[in-house]
Amino acid sequence: MATSVASHYSENLGLAETIAEKLRSTGKDPNKLTTADLVAVDEFHIRGRKATLELGEKMKLNAHSQVLDIGSGLGSPARTLAETYGCRVNGVDLTQAFCDAATAMSDWVGLGNRVSFTQGDATNLPFENQTFDAAMTIHVAMNIAAKDKMYMEARRVLRPGGVFAVYDVLQGEGGEVLYPVPWARDPSISYLATPDKMKSLLTSAGFKLLEVQDSTEESQSFFERMTAQMAKTSTSPVIWQLFLGDDFPAMARNQVRNVTERRIRTVSYICVA
Ligand SMILES: C[S@@+](CC[C@H](N)C(=O)[O-])C[C@H]1O[C@@H](n2cnc3c(N)ncnc32)[C@H](O)[C@@H]1O
Repeated sequence: MATSVASHYSENLGLAETIAEKLRSTGKDPNKLTTADLVAVDEFHIRGRKATLELGEKMKLNAHSQVLDIGSGLGSPARTLAETYGCRVNGVDLTQAFCDAATAMSDWVGLGNRVSFTQGDATNLPFENQTFDAAMTIHVAMNIAAKDKMYMEARRVLRPGGVFAVYDVLQGEGGEVLYPVPWARDPSISYLATPDKMKSLLTSAGFKLLEVQDSTEESQSFFERMTAQMAKTSTSPVIWQLFLGDDFPAMARNQVRNVTERRIRTVSYICVA
């Protein structure tokens, strides 16, 4: 399963160079970039940078915080927190090509000394007990069947009192998900929990649940704006197509229906270890 998930996301080992070329074609110089220049490429989740900043606000971060980002993708959420709070962020991701690209892109924007990326599995984290002051995971668990292990691992590597912020795509009440979607081309690597199941998974892993926030309506507007722009200009406001391939327009259209018909919901959970 882990191999199929990694190959769903990317078999492109030169991803950083592909992204650099794309940026050059839009007039940007990869040697003179800011994190804002990367925004269309790298916040690989619904509602983009805004959603990352919402989680960051709840994580009690400062310049001394050691933070873990589980399923760090191209590294944008890690860079956003490092830049906003001055903290250090370790990202861990199953997909080696994403870890390599995340490392290169962090160097482009001068954050290479505060973020680092390691290939690894969320259900078996390559870190000692109680290593981190806070942890987050954004749009990752929908590819993970063993969510009980994932959340127990998050709890294990957090120091007591550390905040764990989760923002995920959940199974809604409106019926089965329509595929392809950005996390899966078919149901074989898709494992969505329901909102109720999420609460019991997090509390069974030993977390105290502080806050739950459903952002489904805002997610619907996000996809409506994205597909409207794609219809008008035949380009997407995000460049996920670079690694998701030519299926991406169909994925985006399905997501409009999935979220409008409440086949999916987006929900955040703020917990404490
Ligand atoms: C939709 S992307 C989100 C990336 C990032 N969190 C963001 O919001 O920009 C999902 C990520 O989860 C990673 N992933 C999936 N299963 C994983 C696992 N078992 N362990 C670690 N990472 C995993 C994928 O490789 C991919 O980078």
